[in-house]
Amino acid sequence: METDQAPGSAIRVRGIEKSFKDLQVLRGVDFDVRTGSVFALLGSNGAGKTTLVRILSTLLKADAGTAVVNGFDVAAQPSLVRESISLTGQFAAVDEVLTGRENLVLIARLRHLQDPGAIAEALLARFTLTEAGNRKASTYSGGMRRRLDIAMSLIGNPPVIFLDEPTTGLDPQARLEVWQTVRGLAAAGTTVLPTTQDLDEAETLADRIAILHKGTIIQNGTLAELKALLPPAKLEYVEKQPSLEDVFLALVEDGGGIDTATGGRADGTVQAGKEIQ
Ligand SMILES: Nc1ncnc2c1ncn2[C@@H]1O[C@H](COP(=O)(O)OP(=O)(O)OP(=O)(O)O)[C@@H](O)[C@H]1O
Ligand SMILES: [Mg+2]
Repeated sequence: METDQAPGSAIRVRGIEKSFKDLQVLRGVDFDVRTGSVFALLGSNGAGKTTLVRILSTLLKADAGTAVVNGFDVAAQPSLVRESISLTGQFAAVDEVLTGRENLVLIARLRHLQDPGAIAEALLARFTLTEAGNRKASTYSGGMRRRLDIAMSLIGNPPVIFLDEPTTGLDPQARLEVWQTVRGLAAAGTTVLPTTQDLDEAETLADRIAILHKGTIIQNGTLAELKALLPPAKLEYVEKQPSLEDVFLALVEDGGGIDTATGGRADGTVQAGKEIQ
């Protein structure tokens, strides 16, 4: 467990609460994200992932708790937080009327960067959009739009990037490209917080995975740490490690409590479904 003053912590979240009228979505969320790491926020539909990302990116105010991003408090220093981040939303921010190239140039101009044309060109090439660069974004496929959206979020090299479900709707090849981009960003020192419901994605991409369930983080660890919560299932002397999916389902079904003594759910059964293949 990291301390409040954890050095190298790009994001620090303590006791964040948020309700919409009677619906209490976040009930005290705590975690730290190390600088230059990929921290996946995993949760089912409606768990509150987008709500949390909106709070961390200053689009929404929390009811209680604190969050510090790149050293700035989201409530007290929202403009400094905004200068430190980019957010690729679950619903793409691409302007449909503009071409792909124009979308990129627009963001580069808004960020007051020199030579927006060259920046746009390089990003079009990097995301295999050069040929489509002069077409209106309204003519793009879902995957192309998503790639353009992520390209836009990289402009200006923000130190912290929030990606809300970055690969939803992408084909496997495009997903791989996004994952490689995210890993490359983290290797270069950018902190990336993707949200996902996709367990493969969390497994492949993240240095740490936090599971948001019923308003709190019920587990937070490396993939190896999460897998260690469930013992391997045995089948005729062949050991199989639990997949992240096994761990996730067991945690979510039990509200966070895994009985490590019995090696599975509270009733002593090991999560079924995946161990025999
Ligand atoms: N502005 C709002 N007003 C009222 N309720 C809201 C609002 N925003 C979110 N909610 C509710 O809060 C809960 C969490 O929503 P949120 O969008 O954060 O979930 P999520 O984890 O991102 O889900 P998904 O995986 O479907 O994107 C949901 O029940 C949603 O209906
Ligand atoms: Mg969401």
